[in-house]
Amino acid sequence: MKRDYSEIIASSLEARKYAYAPYSKLKVGSALLTKSGKIYTGVNIESASFSLTICAERVAYSKAISEGDKLITAIAISSSKIDYPFPCGACRQFMSEFGENTEVILVKSLKQFKIFKLKDLLPDVFSLK
Ligand code: THU
Repeated sequence: MKRDYSEIIASSLEARKYAYAPYSKLKVGSALLTKSGKIYTGVNIESASFSLTICAERVAYSKAISEGDKLITAIAISSSKIDYPFPCGACRQFMSEFGENTEVILVKSLKQFKIFKLKDLLPDVFSLK
């Protein structure tokens, strides 16, 4: 059965306005859906000390995990400049920690998006489990 991800797709676009990206000017928004039905959003937050920047995906995951909501069904990601913003390698590894079957939705618009399984974006993940 194909799930309806329209709500997190819209939330990822909406969240983007809160991105803090004064250096790259690339605004990224994310919204994840947990099995419990809750939605957590995230944005990229840049730092003048560039390596401290955190991606939108990890912000959303951190919000969910820190509230004890660890079963993540899907995450939608949108960006101000890239049509289909694939998550960076660090985020793929970080997200894989909490399940490789999570669906990753790359959002261009409400009606234009692509869906991948996380395990297809990061095969042979590093794991200590
Ligand atoms: N960025 C994300 O938010 N997610 C990614 O998966 C890749 C990159 C952000 C970090 C930085 O603020 C900007 O995009 C440019 O790299």
